[in-house]
Amino acid sequence: MKRLFSTFIMAISFTVLFSVSAFAAEGEGELTSMGKQKEVVNVAHRGASGHAPENTMAAFQKGFEMKADYIEIDVQMSKDGELVILHDTTLDRTTDGTGWVGNYTLEELKQLDAGSWFSEEFAGEPIPTFEEVIDEFRGKVGILIELKSPELYPGIEGKVAEALKERNMDIPDNNKIIIQSFNHESMKLSKELLPEIPHGVLLGANWANVTDEQLAEFAVYADYFNPTMTILSPELVDRVHAAGMDIWAYTVRTQEQADRLFELGVDGIITDFPEYVYPHPVKNN
Ligand code: G3P
Ligand code: CA
Repeated sequence: MKRLFSTFIMAISFTVLFSVSAFAAEGEGELTSMGKQKEVVNVAHRGASGHAPENTMAAFQKGFEMKADYIEIDVQMSKDGELVILHDTTLDRTTDGTGWVGNYTLEELKQLDAGSWFSEEFAGEPIPTFEEVIDEFRGKVGILIELKSPELYPGIEGKVAEALKERNMDIPDNNKIIIQSFNHESMKLSKELLPEIPHGVLLGANWANVTDEQLAEFAVYADYFNPTMTILSPELVDRVHAAGMDIWAYTVRTQEQADRLFELGVDGIITDFPEYVYPHPVKNN
């Protein structure tokens, strides 16, 4: 009887032990997967532009409220040399104006409605200036600054550098600021002006066959290799990391696209919908 009881107790113990181990292993797997996802930097593209008109204070505020790590902004220049935030080099798609951004003074650009095209709820949203955005959001959320078509705006790199330096935002420990562009010569120049600020190169679909030599050239002045997600493969992710750069891929507009990038092991995801990237507080990275 005693032996039977001991056997019964052993059997129960084994079952409990096995179940706990199995549960722990499963839990560990979930945590590992979630942990990995949490480390991916969440960048609200043109602000949370799936929810509010792109490149407006409303979109940036929404990105901040959604706990994105960074807001991404597109910087251009007015006719009178002021830095303004707008994606297209013409006004027609996202404002009630028409023609080239650079043909208008700041005062003229400030009269435009940059919200109604998205929804009447945002009627009258103005085009923000660069200074307005950095003064409102610095310290609250990271800012990924894209110099948009800088070849149209000679001197724009110097004006951005000046605005950042005036606010002591160019210092080594203030690295929630990153500057990027599709114009790589502009990034070389900007890096010279702001050596302590990380820079990135943006890459379109024509960079699918980027060579190791080109990656090494980028890495001289760039910390970030930010490609369209369409050119990424596991092999390219490894080669970029081997060259010493992080990868922030653009532009995610579905959960499936985000999930593929998690699998590929990118370091950041640039998205119109921050909710597709696990929301987490700003890290002091
Ligand atoms: O930050 C990446 C992304 O903004 C680049 O493309 O055209 O949206 O400025 P685009
Ligand atoms: Ca952009």
